[in-house]
Amino acid sequence: MSDKTVAVFLGDDASPEVMAPTVALLETLALPISFVYPPVATNPDSAPGNNFSESAKRMVDQADATFFGSTSGASTQALFYLRWGKQTFANVRPCKWRPGYQSPLRQPESIDFTIVRENLEDLYLGLEGDLEDLAALNLYSKHARANLKDLGPGRYAIKAITDAGSERVIRFAFELARSRGQKRKVTLTSKYNMLAKADGHFRDIGFEVAKDYPDITFETFIVDDFLCRMITQPQALDVVVTPNLYGDILSDGSAGLMGGLGLAPSGCYGDSYAYFESAHGTAPDIQGQNIINPTATILSAAMLMTYLGYSEAAQRLEAAIDRVYATGQSLPVDQGGNTSTSEFFERMGDLLI
Ligand code: IPM
Ligand code: MG
Repeated sequence: MSDKTVAVFLGDDASPEVMAPTVALLETLALPISFVYPPVATNPDSAPGNNFSESAKRMVDQADATFFGSTSGASTQALFYLRWGKQTFANVRPCKWRPGYQSPLRQPESIDFTIVRENLEDLYLGLEGDLEDLAALNLYSKHARANLKDLGPGRYAIKAITDAGSERVIRFAFELARSRGQKRKVTLTSKYNMLAKADGHFRDIGFEVAKDYPDITFETFIVDDFLCRMITQPQALDVVVTPNLYGDILSDGSAGLMGGLGLAPSGCYGDSYAYFESAHGTAPDIQGQNIINPTATILSAAMLMTYLGYSEAAQRLEAAIDRVYATGQSLPVDQGGNTSTSEFFERMGDLLI
């Protein structure tokens, strides 16, 4: 009898090369988990926007969590359902340097912070259109000293920073800082000087929420300044919270600090659901070459195990990754080695016995 069910999407391009063996690795841990595979329509003739069936959705709903392989299109609808349908509002992206990671920094030692990216709003609502559609609103730009309708033709995108959406993700970040028990610090970043109303609101809510956490240090930086700090003094960070788009960009940057996207895990959490997916994309350029780095996927699986309550399994996976890099043997190609994806998994299997 399985206690837990995990829905698995193998993903596109090079993604199945790391997803399928990671599930196989999890199966060797002999935990009471059953893995189910919601069908993804790959038929190019299927109507666009119609590749996530009701039955696939039901499998996601009935599972305790989803393990998601990066998609270049076939499972985009599933991804959107995992975000907005399941209200997974906090995208957690750890940046932890482990000895052996090929960081471009001279001193990457003890980098260990986590970005919490708001996952559902900001510029990601898909509310875009032609500027002329807004002409009737008679909007005046104080900065440009011009009416919007006089700027000429173009497009707009709406950035929405809601009270509730901001508060829940900021609260999540404070709780995470508490449970990590490290520097006990939350750093909030947004462009609150230029976008005083929207990003300023995110920051104001940060100050409000911070009052409930007197044991946690709270600081804020404007996002451009923050990025410089993230690169020059990453060791000073603990938990970083930020609106959606900045979080998307900064988390690829933090992956770069560790040594690349091949090392960057990710998990998206809501109040009653979570899904886990490496931060990298589908790597179509290296598809079929058996060289994609499985580390991000395996560490995402470790986050999944923790979420399901199997923290010992998570620790074993992390310890095996630590071991591979610390010994400097079996390094994947992107980390300066010549170990293939399948050899990396063999080594992981040996280390997990
Ligand atoms: C990510 C990706 C996605 C995002 C894309 C694929 C929609 O970049 O998970 O970081 O922007 O959220
Ligand atoms: Mg991204």
